[in-house]
Amino acid sequence: MTASLRSLSAVLPPVFPIGLGCMGMSEFYGTSDDDQSLTTLTRALELGVTLFDTADTYGLGANEELLGRFIAAGGSERRARMVLATKFGIVRAPGAYERRIDNSPAYIRSACEASLKRLSVEQIDLYYCHRRDPAVPIEDVVGAMADLVRTGKVRAIGLSEVSAQTLRRAHAVHPVAALQSEYSLWTRDPEQELLPLCSELGVAFVAYSPLGRAFLTGALNMAHLEAQDFRAHNPRFQGDAGAANARLVAQLSTLAKKWNLTNAQLALAWLLNRQSHAIPIPGTRRPERLQENLTAATVRLDAEQMAQIEAVFALGAVQGARYPDAGRVGMETSV
Ligand SMILES: NC(=O)c1ccc[n+]([C@@H]2O[C@H](COP(=O)([O-])OP(=O)(O)OC[C@H]3O[C@@H](n4cnc5c(N)ncnc54)[C@H](OP(=O)(O)O)[C@@H]3O)[C@@H](O)[C@H]2O)c1
Repeated sequence: MTASLRSLSAVLPPVFPIGLGCMGMSEFYGTSDDDQSLTTLTRALELGVTLFDTADTYGLGANEELLGRFIAAGGSERRARMVLATKFGIVRAPGAYERRIDNSPAYIRSACEASLKRLSVEQIDLYYCHRRDPAVPIEDVVGAMADLVRTGKVRAIGLSEVSAQTLRRAHAVHPVAALQSEYSLWTRDPEQELLPLCSELGVAFVAYSPLGRAFLTGALNMAHLEAQDFRAHNPRFQGDAGAANARLVAQLSTLAKKWNLTNAQLALAWLLNRQSHAIPIPGTRRPERLQENLTAATVRLDAEQMAQIEAVFALGAVQGARYPDAGRVGMETSV
């Protein structure tokens, strides 16, 4: 599929404007199937996707191992076509959602070694600090990450869910290639400070959960979520908040139908048309959804269309927090 590439960082090759989020292939959104996920990864590369996003905490290492199997099976040629991003910092016990955060330099070094091994690569292209541990100054965190760049274990560094102040301080120590934060029609807070700051500093903005964890697609059946599905415990999906938000999605569906797009395509196209330096990383376990999602990179929306979409998701329209209490640890952004 042809679409103009987006710049991630001076030290990384430009990427297809839509990446692939791999988290749901191993945890959080119900049962998954590794064979199906491997087919999805193969298809994503065939369709031109270059940025693949994972973290050591997804499936407690299982998601990195899945990507490691995929990379090992394709050899150096496959590896060379991928920009591989992973993250450190969230520490959980097996089976638990509750977490603590560790940003100590010793932890960062050992987490990096463990990720390299699971991914079966010699270098991580983009290594993020997933969550902040306030006990460790950001300068020390970035210092430890910069050492990984110097030793060749990491090509570029990123931060996730940090405040504008932290991003600025970090960038003064070592260039931050990317900031990853939740951003979508129902999470527009980064428009206030973080997106303008990324633009100012030349930091790419990687938008996670751009489909609102499937809520925006209108295809999520809340009655059939598995008990361990993260969304079954997320305030935005539940009760009165969930019902109010579903009414917004119904309006989005009306617009999408009128313009001959699916909800997923409209949500992604809105993001890409609004932010010229943002790279959304929608997640899917299903190969058949890739083409649909990636087509959004070719959709141009005019000012009138953008205004109609944004009128639905106006400031204050979305109800409910985006994380349950246990998920807020280490987040410097509003939840
Ligand atoms: N930095 C962080 O703290 C952080 C936090 C969360 C996520 N992330 C990253 O961001 C990535 C993307 O976010 P996300 O997976 O949370 O949410 P998302 O991309 O907003 O939504 C993923 C969900 O949407 C469904 N979906 C995908 N395409 C669809 C389509 N065309 N029609 C209907 N449903 C569709 C998927 O189901 P199927 O799998 O069944 O298709 C999945 O349940 C993650 O994979 C992860 O890599 C980072």
